Amino acid sequence: MTLIDGKALATKMQAELATKTARLKEEKGLIPGLVVILVGEDAASQVYVRNKERSALAAGFNSQVVRLPETTTEAELLDLIEKYNQDEAWHGILVQLPLPEHIDEEKVLFAISPEKDVDGFHPTNMGKLWSGHAVMVPSTPAGIMEMFKEYQVDLTGKSAVVIGRSNIVGKPMAQLLMDANATVTIAHSRTKNLAELARQADILVVAIGRGHFVTKEFVKEGAVVIDVGMNRDENGKLIGDVKFDEVAPVASMITPVPGGVGPMTITMLMEQTYEAALRNS
Ligand code: GUN
Repeated sequence: MTLIDGKALATKMQAELATKTARLKEEKGLIPGLVVILVGEDAASQVYVRNKERSALAAGFNSQVVRLPETTTEAELLDLIEKYNQDEAWHGILVQLPLPEHIDEEKVLFAISPEKDVDGFHPTNMGKLWSGHAVMVPSTPAGIMEMFKEYQVDLTGKSAVVIGRSNIVGKPMAQLLMDANATVTIAHSRTKNLAELARQADILVVAIGRGHFVTKEFVKEGAVVIDVGMNRDENGKLIGDVKFDEVAPVASMITPVPGGVGPMTITMLMEQTYEAALRNS
């Protein structure tokens, strides 16, 4: 069994990105800029946003985090997004999700200029991805594709099962796997005989958001298992969607949690910001 070390790959890519960024600054006087907007006090979001800021600064980007109170109105948030849409110093705009209940998430994601939508959540970018002309790709599935590349996982003709149908992970993941010539099934919490279906997979990507949901009964001998889960167990420990200890001996390759998909997600967000700066300056 090979452990897919997302942290090591992310560290390597971040170092390369810092080098590219320094060169861009020297040769063109261009510094990629990323704005992250956080509304409210969600504890997990606070951690994610801090990590994004740290990563942007380490890459040599201009980084701004706008922390807004829970009481911020939708109109105030939309005004702020428009301000950054217009400001050429900022190449990437990310609004951390989830948003407070009183703000319409779809409206907010629509408001971000597609050219600056480094999350790839704007319908224009989602549509481009689905029509095979991807520009901005959601970071988590993009990071998983990088891991397949690094570990030379040949996807052509393989049976891939994605458990989870979110716009952030499941749907774009399925599309990217299809682009790489895998035969893809999207499964979810309502899928009948889920374990049996998952057991058909050469490639199993799990993004269902339930701690230790996938047991060895879900996994074919020799499958590649990617765990997108970030859950807390009853002791507050970070755990994946996959029961690592019993699945690892069955799998040919597997990502750990932490240290697997998570670090790659942030790295891809930075890559995407760098690319956006190149395209739009
Ligand atoms: N919340 C959880 N994951 C994400 C993500 O990838 N992007 C944003 N904007 N919010 C998130």
